[in-house]
Amino acid sequence: MTPVIAKTREELASVRSGVTGTLALVPTMGALHEGHRSLIRKAHQVADVVAVSIFVNPLQFGPGEDLDRYPRTFAADIEACAAEGVDIVFAPTQDVMYPTPPVVTIDSGPMGRVVEGITRPGHFDGMLTVVMKLLNVVRPDVAIFGEKDAQQLAMIRRMVADLEVPVRIVGGPTVRELGGLALSSRNRYLSEAERRTALSLSQALQAGEDAAPGGPAAVVAAAKAVLDKAVGADPPLKLDYLVLVDPSTFTEVEAGHTGDAVLAVAGRVGTTHLIDNVPVHFAGTPKES
Ligand code: PAF
Repeated sequence: MTPVIAKTREELASVRSGVTGTLALVPTMGALHEGHRSLIRKAHQVADVVAVSIFVNPLQFGPGEDLDRYPRTFAADIEACAAEGVDIVFAPTQDVMYPTPPVVTIDSGPMGRVVEGITRPGHFDGMLTVVMKLLNVVRPDVAIFGEKDAQQLAMIRRMVADLEVPVRIVGGPTVRELGGLALSSRNRYLSEAERRTALSLSQALQAGEDAAPGGPAAVVAAAKAVLDKAVGADPPLKLDYLVLVDPSTFTEVEAGHTGDAVLAVAGRVGTTHLIDNVPVHFAGTPKES
């Protein structure tokens, strides 16, 4: 069944007022792929009614980033939503979302200025601002975000906790191609040769994960060895960062860290910015008896 498409606040308010039961929102920038579809399926598991928002948010793109060429595939997105049984699509234009340039925005704080925030200054402020607006406009009970954007998910959880936003945040696992490449709307920019180099990201994460029994330094070294080869490949990987961080603060973990961590990587292949991560658990050194 084709979802109800709301393009204005008024249209959304009218369809929202008819919702009975719980509502889940899957915020997206469109160009929907299997990763988004798995989030929609998760949304169906946790709520009675499922809404998807489609909005390419200019506020989270920096100068020189891919705002203009970001894929816009509205007809195919609606087909994907229909196939997944989405009830409501909210697809505002830029004028609807930002009738006037926002003067008051969300400051992502120190957490927004580390890791991905270093390579993309201002990105998390813009992302949190639009997520807050979407939550206020759609008023879902639950909102679902992909774990591929681990820092984004951590920051949204933090914003919701710090500002007491009345919504439950649920993460959905990363979906990968057969070779391991994490699904992303940006993968469609990659040539065949670039795609081969891009595989090094997930291969590095896998190598890091396998080295977990050796502790944090071993994890980073194993991942780095894979990435070093990709940096020298043709076409090369331009590595932005490889970090092992605390999942809730995104600060780098200490040498003797035990418990959960996230191994996160980002780089550019050609002009395509790619990110990926895996959770890593450090059980700790067994105590001598
Ligand atoms: O992950 C995305 O697609 C975007 O950052 C989001 C959460 C829809 C906000 O624009």
